[in-house]
Parts: sequence; structure tokens; C-alpha cells
Amino acid sequence: MRKFRMATVGLGHRGRQMLCDVARCVDCIDAVAVCDLTPDLFYKPVHFYYGGDMPPLKEELPALHFYTDYEEMLDTEKPDVVMVETPAQCHAQFCALALKRGIHVYSDIPTVGTLEDADMLWKVRKESDAMLMTGATTCGWGFVLALQDLCKQGLLGKPFFLEAEYIHDCRMLWEETPWRRPGPDNKPNPAYYCTHSLGPLLSVIDEDLRTVSCVSSGSFVSGNPWAEDICSATFQTDSGVIVRMTKSGVNNAKIGHHSYRVFGSEGYFEHLSERGSEPARTRFNSTKLYGANKLTELPVTFTPNEGEEWSHKRPRSTFGHGGADAWLWYKFAEALQAGAKEAPLDLKAGLRMTLPGIFAGESIKRKGEIVKLHYPWDND
Ligand SMILES: NC(=O)c1ccc[n+]([C@@H]2O[C@H](COP(=O)([O-])OP(=O)(O)OC[C@H]3O[C@@H](n4cnc5c(N)ncnc54)[C@H](O)[C@@H]3O)[C@@H](O)[C@H]2O)c1
Repeated sequence: MRKFRMATVGLGHRGRQMLCDVARCVDCIDAVAVCDLTPDLFYKPVHFYYGGDMPPLKEELPALHFYTDYEEMLDTEKPDVVMVETPAQCHAQFCALALKRGIHVYSDIPTVGTLEDADMLWKVRKESDAMLMTGATTCGWGFVLALQDLCKQGLLGKPFFLEAEYIHDCRMLWEETPWRRPGPDNKPNPAYYCTHSLGPLLSVIDEDLRTVSCVSSGSFVSGNPWAEDICSATFQTDSGVIVRMTKSGVNNAKIGHHSYRVFGSEGYFEHLSERGSEPARTRFNSTKLYGANKLTELPVTFTPNEGEEWSHKRPRSTFGHGGADAWLWYKFAEALQAGAKEAPLDLKAGLRMTLPGIFAGESIKRKGEIVKLHYPWDND
């Protein structure tokens, strides 16, 4: 088996966890180097809200070399793969610097922070021989794979109204990750973090989203006047398919984070998040399947292909959001081994689920006015 040397940039809770999991579970990856602006995240014990107390990374993975300068790391270590885990708005530059050097990229979401970054990255990727894999966690969930299968088999007919909710009170992360804390110098577009919602929905429709109207609540909950508690966006495709997204980062709703519903011409699908003691549930009905004309529960969970030996390399070596991150990483590792030219979830997939949130932010500024969407590939 060919081995790939991996460097990681960004050692916050997410980068640290992903790095350690990938180093432990993905056989073809050798973690060789890490980069962060804060050396303490490598040399000292750390505490994260998600993850708790951890020993110095230097002790956990002693073979790693540490850098504070990303380009110096790339040029010294010459890795085959880079994993990008920097704050959400600044992935594009790190991805581009790697792709320009022919280094494959596994990038966390959202893919880009601005339309200019999207054009830049699209161009850089086209001129590179390296792959960019979009680490869109929610696309690896078991119930999303089930939805994709229902659609592929025609059991839902044509999806024409799809909706997703991402309701996650993130106030406890404001101190640890200042880029999440709204303030006079940081007014995050509340629709920006849309990939968790749109990724699964866009994976079952073959058109891009073309218009959006989005409104945002302002601040009711936290006392932070710059917070936007909840926003609601309605997108539409050229053929009339509607996609609705509700996204909240500040709330007092004690419910599970993610729900999805798909109305198809021949059926219906829903995954509703847990409510207190009621577990999350996935159900569907179809006019095309004998016995499924009534709402029918599907025995699927977050874990992809639960119970099957879905990793031929290390069955059951699973990690990240019920196994979704592992599933995506194993797909990427297979593509690396095969010398593939495109990643399983490529840059286009990442931009399709990221750019709608940027346009939705523009609509919010214009009080819900309908805004037209465009993509870097429109001119290709
Ligand atoms: N897929 C998921 O479900 C999921 C979950 C959580 C976070 N995320 C994503 O993971 C990423 C990281 O999130 P986090 O919560 O760990 O954030 P974080 O702020 O804790 O970590 C980011 C790290 O990047 C470092 N950094 C910033 N600029 C840098 C630079 N120029 N060079 C080197 N290092 C630099 C910071 O010092 C920080 O340690 C974000 O993009 C977020 O959207 C994804």
C-alpha cells in the first residue's frame, strides 16, 4: 500500500481531533507535521469544550514536526496531503497554497469565505494535478446515504421541496473560538455555515440553487447585540425546486441539531432530530414500493453502513460524528490509492453547498430581497 505523508494546519478542537483520528485509523496516512499560530497547542496540555483535557500533542504524536508558518511547513516537509482545519472563513488560501504545489487537500467546511475566494480556488484547482476533498461531515451520515439510495432507485420520484434545519446553540464556543463570537468587528453572516444543511439535500438534486431570499432575526436571546439568533433562507432552482434552510447558532431549544425533509413526486423522506428522550427518527413513504405506502421507519442511524465491514482496511475503525468523518476520509484514502483525478466530494460539491450561504447573507442585508446566485463554473 502506498503511504501518503500528511500535514495539518489548525490545531483547535476540530483539527486536533481529526488529526489524531486520521493518524490512528487511516492506514495509508503518515502524519508528519502540524502548523498553528499558537505553539502552546502543540507543546502544552490543552482543554477544549469538545474533547476536555488532553496531553500535549507533542506527547501524543511525538513524530510530528511543528511549524507556525504554513508555507515553511509545506516547503520543508513536502507533504503529499494537507488537512485544513483553520477557522471557517479562511480555508481557501491554505487550500490554494497546497494545490499550487501539487499537494492533495482535505478541507473542512465551509469551502470558502467569499465569492472572490471561490473564483480564485476554482482556477487554482483547474490548474493543479492535486485533488481537493470537501470534508462535509453530514454527507457521510447513514441516513443521508439512505436518502441518496431512495432517490437513486426512484422511490421518491423527483424531489421538489427539500428542507433542512441546523439548530445548534454555539454560545459555549464563543470564548474558545473568537471567530464564532459576534461583535462590532465580527458580524458573521448567520446563513454562512450552511453546508451541514445543504450538503445532504444538494446530493439528491442535480441542479444548482439559482435564487435566494433570506431573513434573519437579530438578537433576542443572548444580550449580545451583534448576534443573529436564527435565519431562514428559501432557495430555488431553474426548474422550480425549492430548498428551505433554517439555521440557528443562538437559541434555547433543547433539541437535536439536524433535521431534513424531502418531498418527492412519488414519496416523502424525513430525518427528525432527537427530542428529549425521543430518539432521532428516519422515515419515508413511496408510491413505488409495495408495502411502503404508509410512513415507514428506516432502521438507519448517523453511522454509515452500520454493522457492515465498510472499511476494507480496518473494519470498524470509526471516528467523527458517528463515523461520518471516517467514512469521508476512507473514501478520500481510496481515491488517493487509486491515483484519482477528482476527489469523491470535490471542490464543485463544496462550492455548491457553500456559496448559497454567501448569497443568502447578501439577501439578509437587503431585507430578504431575492438575490441571484452564480458559480465559478457558469463561465466554463
Ligand atoms: N465538520 C464539522 O462538523 C465541524 C465541526 C467543528 C468545526 N468544524 C470546522 O473546523 C474548523 C476549525 O474549527 P475549530 O472549532 O477547531 O476552530 P479553532 O478556532 O479552535 O481552530 C482553528 C485553529 O486555526 C489556527 N489558525 C488560524 N490561522 C492560522 C494560520 N494562518 N496558520 C496556522 N494556524 C492558524 C488557530 O490558531 C486555531 O488554533 C472550522 O473551519 C470549522 O468550521 C467543522
